[in-house]
Amino acid sequence: MHNQIDQAAGLRKLKKNKPVRVIAITSGKGGVGKTNLSVNLGIAMAQKGQRVALLDADMGLANVDILLGLYPKFNLSHVLTGEKKFG
Ligand SMILES: Nc1ncnc2c1ncn2[C@@H]1O[C@H](COP(=O)(O)OP(=O)(O)OP(=O)(O)O)[C@@H](O)[C@H]1O
Ligand SMILES: [Mg+2]
Repeated sequence: MHNQIDQAAGLRKLKKNKPVRVIAITSGKGGVGKTNLSVNLGIAMAQKGQRVALLDADMGLANVDILLGLYPKFNLSHVLTGEKKFG
């Protein structure tokens, strides 16, 4: 286990400084508006002064980048392979 990459290390480091609130948006059915709700909730919270990190955990067809007009060089798969890390 100690040889494996600790993917939660970055989150734990953040938690030490300030409590991190996690909101999971999920559903039992596809296409019901999760991504749109997540983006708009994130924008609303940021406008109220919160620091927001939006994570699209869809490993197949993540599209939050498209909604936000972003062109990321890396995605969640790079974190899982250890190539990149959070924080
Ligand atoms: N409140 C809403 N009213 C009308 N249409 C909506 C609303 N929210 C989302 N939609 C539309 O529904 C479709 C699916 O939205 P969205 O991508 O947010 O759903 P999703 O639950 O994230 O889907 P997936 O399960 O494929 O990730 C999109 O075409 C979007 O424009
Ligand atoms: Mg979605």
